Amino acid sequence: MANEKLSLPEFQAPEDGRLSVEMRTAFDEAGVIVLRGFTERRACEALQTRTSELVDAFDPRSVRSFFSSRSNVQLGDDYFIRSGADIGFFFEEDAFDAAGDLKQDKRHSINKMGHAMHDIDPLFDEFSRTPELAALVASLGVEHPLLVQSMYIFKPPRIGGEVVCHQDSTYLYTEPETCIGFWFAIDDADEDNGCMQFVPGGHKAPLRRLNYRTAEGALVTDVIDDAPLNDHMSVPACAARGDLVIFHGRAPHMSAQNRSSRPRHAYTLHIVDGAAQWPAQNWLQRPADLPFRGF
Ligand code: FE2
Repeated sequence: MANEKLSLPEFQAPEDGRLSVEMRTAFDEAGVIVLRGFTERRACEALQTRTSELVDAFDPRSVRSFFSSRSNVQLGDDYFIRSGADIGFFFEEDAFDAAGDLKQDKRHSINKMGHAMHDIDPLFDEFSRTPELAALVASLGVEHPLLVQSMYIFKPPRIGGEVVCHQDSTYLYTEPETCIGFWFAIDDADEDNGCMQFVPGGHKAPLRRLNYRTAEGALVTDVIDDAPLNDHMSVPACAARGDLVIFHGRAPHMSAQNRSSRPRHAYTLHIVDGAAQWPAQNWLQRPADLPFRGF
């Protein structure tokens, strides 16, 4: 149950993107801040339109991958691994009937699209590499930013699934840890349609799990610290289209099922510092002709 009495630190987005000392202090304390009106609504609409075009061009018969944060089923899937340098589509668990056919139109069945739109699609590239975001990232102290992963999350009405509490550095690990998440609200998000929820200050505790690829190619997640993530202390990050939620790679977060009749589209970017080491065991690897890039 979300803690209704607390709220996350929120600010009007700075015009040039650079975080003020007050914003930076709030981020360091809570591990998460909300910037209101960071992205122009028309840029959100353009991203949504481009996403519709990509979905229209996608043939669902070509893949039966689906995403489940509970089972990690997708992590052993070659299609998933390849999507680190491509644009892949992943279905909701409840999208298929017993015969393995989609229960409804593909537009209402996809959980997410990932993970390299920002390096492959020109419009996603433009959305992800604005001067304001570059200034914001610099003001967070990231000296050599690399945009490693992008995801467009659909969270469709009624079947948009729960994402259990986790830390993103589990999957986007560097030594030392440098992952920062950027969650852009493309639709309005509230508790009814499964907004993000964070445990304020939870980033100060250790990383609990580490996901990596074994020499045999299997993806495994090891428990490296069994302290609880305290998801009962989570606070909703309600957001309007154009708002940006910035969160530390260790910030515990989750989201409930979308039980509403509204979609909850969001775009996420993850950035690491290129000065840190990117382990060869991370699931996400790029071929030589599509290296990680900055702004
Ligand atoms: Fe996450």
